[in-house]
Amino acid sequence: MSLYRLVRPLAFRLPAETAHGLGKGALKAAGSLDPVRRLVRGAYRYRHPALRVEAFGVEFPTPVGVAAGFDKNGEATHALADLGFGFVEVGTVTPRPQDGNPRPRLFRLPEDRGMINRLGFNGQGVERVRRRFERRGTPDVPVGVNVGKMNDSGAAVAVEDYRTVLEAVYPYPDYFVVNVSCPNTPDEFDETGPDHLRSLLGALSAANDEDKPILVKVGPDDRRSDLADLVEIVEEFDVAGVVATNTTTDRPDLSSPHRAEWGGLSGRPLEEKATETVRTLAGLTDLPIVGVGGVDSAQSAYRKIRAGATLVQLYTGFVYGGPSTPREIASGLVDLLERDGFDSVEEAVGADLDS
Ligand SMILES: Cc1cc2nc3c(=O)[nH]c(=O)nc-3n(C[C@H](O)[C@H](O)[C@H](O)COP(=O)(O)O)c2cc1C
Repeated sequence: MSLYRLVRPLAFRLPAETAHGLGKGALKAAGSLDPVRRLVRGAYRYRHPALRVEAFGVEFPTPVGVAAGFDKNGEATHALADLGFGFVEVGTVTPRPQDGNPRPRLFRLPEDRGMINRLGFNGQGVERVRRRFERRGTPDVPVGVNVGKMNDSGAAVAVEDYRTVLEAVYPYPDYFVVNVSCPNTPDEFDETGPDHLRSLLGALSAANDEDKPILVKVGPDDRRSDLADLVEIVEEFDVAGVVATNTTTDRPDLSSPHRAEWGGLSGRPLEEKATETVRTLAGLTDLPIVGVGGVDSAQSAYRKIRAGATLVQLYTGFVYGGPSTPREIASGLVDLLERDGFDSVEEAVGADLDS
């Protein structure tokens, strides 16, 4: 039995946010001691040539990354890379520190293998994140920064917020994600409305001196026609890819006592909806898609890839599965690729789409 299986029942007795803080604290400590880092890498990291992926000009050692929200302030990037994740998305990073919503605001739904969160962009602000990158550098896997706005910013100020974050950390990440799909921030205006999206992407393109890849993160609750409109706009602005999806405000049949909490639902109950969004997007565009939502096993990662995702990410599946999850997914993916006669992940991308 793994250590995590022993520790998890204890951790799950704590409020979810407290347990998350402890887990991240352990990762942060492990990532700052070189001998521990070597041990962790030796025990957990899994690499295989079939898993290498190139997307939007960046080389990924495996297609399995950490989704935004887990490491909001860039404190655990090295440890997450040591555990075997192929890339780490830091953020959402806002221009200034922000408290987010009152606690409790994070709930586990173990019966459903899901979580509901309404954190509301809590974070230390971009200056702390920038200093951390400056001091510690980035790990040996690609890093993305997910960019957001302050909760009380209206449309015009929001554009400035996104630009401020991008410019402040510009030299460090390999790619940026524009997060316009958080269901837990106040609805000051329609973040995915065409006019706003155009002015936002226009401003970010103008600030993107070195043409770093900028991706847009979408929610799972949009209709096909909304996604088609979005694709038209992102293609206009040379966006590098789409991250699909954020959490859902939908409540499918759930059995956990916390099912009625408001916020964004993630994990297994989101899987099918997120995969459908990936499939719809893949039918609308050739841009690379990062599939996220309910990935917690090699099989679920593979479903996203076959539906059109070039890369996948997870958050909730990592909380339930623990530190061996990236290894299990990566090694399991190699088996699935071999089973189906694919030489690489790249060959399997979109295999389930009608051609
Ligand atoms: C506690 C929590 C916090 C999150 N914070 C963010 C965030 O700050 N920015 C963002 O783009 N997505 C955030 N997400 C969404 C995840 O990145 C991901 O899109 C979603 O959880 C679906 O993936 P999963 O089912 O693997 O968790 C958060 C998710 C959770 C559970």
